[in-house]
Amino acid sequence: MIEIAGSGPIADAEVEVVVVPVGTERQWGPGAEAVADAIGDWLTAHLDTEDFTGKAGQTVMVATAGSTPWKAALFVGLGDDPSSEDLRHAAGRVGRMVSAYVSVATTLHQLPNDGAAEAVASGFAMGQYRFDKYKTEPKPVKTERLLLADADAETVAEARNGLVVAAAVSLARDLVNEPPVAKSPEVLAGVAETIAADHDLRIKVYDEDEIVAERFGGLAAVAAGAAKPARMVEMWYEPEGATAFLALVGKGIVFDSGGLSLKPANMMEDMKTDMSGGAAVLAAMQAIATLGLKVRVLAVVPFTENMPGGAAQRPGDVLTARNGKTIEVLNTDAEGRLVLADGLSLAVEHEPDLVVDLATLTGACKIALGEEIAGLFANTEEASDQVLGAAAKSGERLWRLPLPDDYRKKIDSDVADMKNTGPRWGGAISAAHLLKEFVNDRPWAHLDIAGPARATSDEGYIAKGGTGYGVRTLVALAESMATH
Ligand code: BES
Ligand code: MN
Ligand code: ZN
Repeated sequence: MIEIAGSGPIADAEVEVVVVPVGTERQWGPGAEAVADAIGDWLTAHLDTEDFTGKAGQTVMVATAGSTPWKAALFVGLGDDPSSEDLRHAAGRVGRMVSAYVSVATTLHQLPNDGAAEAVASGFAMGQYRFDKYKTEPKPVKTERLLLADADAETVAEARNGLVVAAAVSLARDLVNEPPVAKSPEVLAGVAETIAADHDLRIKVYDEDEIVAERFGGLAAVAAGAAKPARMVEMWYEPEGATAFLALVGKGIVFDSGGLSLKPANMMEDMKTDMSGGAAVLAAMQAIATLGLKVRVLAVVPFTENMPGGAAQRPGDVLTARNGKTIEVLNTDAEGRLVLADGLSLAVEHEPDLVVDLATLTGACKIALGEEIAGLFANTEEASDQVLGAAAKSGERLWRLPLPDDYRKKIDSDVADMKNTGPRWGGAISAAHLLKEFVNDRPWAHLDIAGPARATSDEGYIAKGGTGYGVRTLVALAESMATH
């Protein structure tokens, strides 16, 4: 992990590369003119040949070795009036571009945006993320230091908080990118135990026998077809001085084959991603505890594979979830809602002020909103506003979808309290309606992250693969509920 510190003026920084912002029509941003002057007259001709105007997304790296204290300068186009999120993405591109340099100085945090230092630090660190533990010839990121030119102590502290969140996002990405054979429920429960031990959190991991004894019927039913035993993780962060109480629940399907309702091969390729909600919840706990936010947080994550073994649940089976309600399972590939039924039941037993679940729940949500935007469902306006506010602050894209009462009948079952599938159309709504049966009318928000949990290419601070979507919104939400 990189270190952040303040430095003097950018042009004098003793680093390998300096990074400065430029606006449309080559308007120098903070520090850019001083850097340009240090380079000399040839810079203009160079930027001309590169067609660099300062438009958003443009970057030019100039090698200056010999003539300046640093080896290179990176000019970052930001266009007119960039948002904090634009800045975060630009910092992400910068992070990726300078990953071969040990030390970097910048002025990007001097832009007038709210939370600019946080955005620059977190974007930079997220942009440097890579998952190369299975490469025999990895190209490691060399960056050790990011210096913020002319920054005061408060700015440096804000940036360091951004690094804490970026580290949590990296953890979530690592867990998602890990091959499914290497992240059994036991292994992931072990990750939760490590986080708990590091931060002195109370944790209870239910093993396969306790899952049955504690009536987690949805989790047990999904786990029945898997050779590896399931785990239910319950983790508590209870700082002194907290008044509000937040519960987080994450879908932790470490691999979703579909079960007996087997997925076609091409639909299975990315199904190691199906524990992204659980990964985001665990990672958010790490960041919330590291930052010492004064809010009580309960994290619940059911972990299992969804496999078609000989003992697997069958279409037509009926299970009883933790809260006593029964579900007829017509499609074993609609398994996320079954394990979340138990997770939500457990969470609301403790009467949180707000319960939020994250799940790669439906292909329907991905079809509705695409790969960059998550779907939000909520049972109160306040819950919706709280989560949308946190998402807006973090930069993660989220759009509320409707949960009309008359759609509940679409999951009516002939034999049980409900069935686990609805009609083909509006599949994200049917899934959300099933979850709603398990929140006991507590204020609740459900994020369907099937789209943004995985990225198909590098883009700004996003790296191809698991994105860690949700971590930043959860941390911002906890922050908004914390006692200050
Ligand atoms: N994990 C999938 C949803 C998913 C699909 C996430 C594509 C990311 C990308 C979930 O368990 C699932 O299989 N849902 C089914 C539900 C259907 C059988 C009612 C779906 O969306 O097709
Ligand atoms: Mn499925
Ligand atoms: Zn799934």
